[in-house]
Amino acid sequence: MKEKINKYLEEIDGFIAETPDQLEAFRIKFLSKKGLIPDLFSEMKEVAPELRKEMGQVLNNLKNKTQDKVSSLKETLKQQETKSDKATDLTLPANYMDPGSRHPLSIVRNDIIEIFSRLGFTVEVGPEIEDDWHNFTALNFHEEHPARDMQDTFFIEKKPDIVLRTHTSSVQIRVMQHNQPPIRSIFPGRVFRNEAISARAHCIFHQIEGLYIDENVSFADLKQTLYYFATEYFGADTKIRFRPSYFPFTEPSAEMDISCFICGGSGCKVCKYTGWVEILGCGMVDPNVLENCNIDSNKYTGFAFGMGIERVAMLKYQIDDIRLFFENDVRFLKQFSSAT
Ligand code: DAH
Repeated sequence: MKEKINKYLEEIDGFIAETPDQLEAFRIKFLSKKGLIPDLFSEMKEVAPELRKEMGQVLNNLKNKTQDKVSSLKETLKQQETKSDKATDLTLPANYMDPGSRHPLSIVRNDIIEIFSRLGFTVEVGPEIEDDWHNFTALNFHEEHPARDMQDTFFIEKKPDIVLRTHTSSVQIRVMQHNQPPIRSIFPGRVFRNEAISARAHCIFHQIEGLYIDENVSFADLKQTLYYFATEYFGADTKIRFRPSYFPFTEPSAEMDISCFICGGSGCKVCKYTGWVEILGCGMVDPNVLENCNIDSNKYTGFAFGMGIERVAMLKYQIDDIRLFFENDVRFLKQFSSAT
């Protein structure tokens, strides 16, 4: 009997189950009613009475050990099964990954850049932190101009003034300082104004500035360029009109309206029943500005324009609250996912 026990022990110790069926066969072989271990118990009656107690203990140990082995192998097999399920079940559907979408301001900016690039405008960028000279002085702002006032400008340092640029017109100066005409570029970027945040105004917004300097550039070139932009972006039937205005860095200066592309000019909420919506500021670059950048104002002339990207986006997509652009609410952003 001892011999049998040792033989079984060896087999039980060395047993490894690769499948649940193998484990079940093992359990039946040793532990089922007619299995090898119950067999041994029935052989107990042949054991000499003085050895029975000791033998009984040995048999009980063997039985417990075998039962433990079966349960631990069962557990291991279960774990392996769930692991391999995850690793290898190629029939499971893939996890859905939201593709995301471009931010509406990026969409509008890219569309505007694309239209002007067809006319040969290149894209340049400048710093968001500017000195007073690039943001104001070189652009012909007088010392006492109200736009320099604390109300509009975020100052980073005073005397000498370092500011968060209040407009992308500062990039005009940088580009003219480093390039001689012909210059034909647009400058998209973020600008900052110390304004109360409301549905109509934000302290951070975006502009696209345009600049064209060459010999014999006239107001007619300005009109035709902006007319091309308006019809390409807002539709072929779009009309434009210019209203005289004032900017320190352009002379003459104008504001451009487009005919309302929602109602076609008959009057609606978007155009406040006027048939027209204001879209940008523009003008012929003031000779003082050219001279400030060492460009010969007797030889060269040019035009400039600047528009707010949020404003264009709000008109195009009929968005009535500028704050939506900065809140990153996915329910808002998702609506632009099918746009280019
Ligand atoms: N810088 C002006 C603003 O922020 C916009 C502007 C007007 C830009 C006329 C220009 C321009 O280049 O010619 O309100």
